[in-house]
Amino acid sequence: MSTPPYEELLSADQIRRRVSELGHEITDRYRSAESLVVVGILKGSFVFLADLIRQIDLTVEIELMSVMSYGEATKSSGHVRVLMDLQRDIQYQEVLIVEDIVDTGRTIAYLAASLRQRNPASLSVCTLLDKPSKREVEVTPEYIGFEIPDQFVVGYGLDHAQKHRNLPNIVVLDT
Ligand code: IMP
Ligand code: MG
Repeated sequence: MSTPPYEELLSADQIRRRVSELGHEITDRYRSAESLVVVGILKGSFVFLADLIRQIDLTVEIELMSVMSYGEATKSSGHVRVLMDLQRDIQYQEVLIVEDIVDTGRTIAYLAASLRQRNPASLSVCTLLDKPSKREVEVTPEYIGFEIPDQFVVGYGLDHAQKHRNLPNIVVLDT
């Protein structure tokens, strides 16, 4: 996968350094909070989530939510289906959503609105990747790992038709 036609966009080393910075930023921001509920959005965020939480020096609780926004295509259907919801109440909790990538913004806009209805003390979004040029819904994640151009990428948890999530780096998929 690391040889052509798959061009590397972000190396494992670049990702590791940025994830560490994000972990420190988040630690500083929530320093005074009693605890932080980190909500990983499956499946795409699982690799990022695992690395990020180990760079957060706070008492965290991990929750997982599974949503489906894309079928097998590389284009957004504009549809979000919740396959698995949180297992705990988040009322009065500090909540951080962890996403792999914000593209049109539809998935995160839907999730944020849905979680906000549950009345958390605060709600922020941390995304590893952001494709601002593709935005259809106005959303600005508080924490962004990397802004990337309008290209379809896989690796480090991100897939195309469920494949390539296990790549340690992020590469541009030649479609
Ligand atoms: P949005 O709703 O258009 O913002 O799409 C967000 C979701 O689409 C992400 O959580 C990914 O699962 C998927 N997605 C968007 N762009 C890419 C990409 O370049 N590679 C892999 N998945 C992507
Ligand atoms: Mg995803």
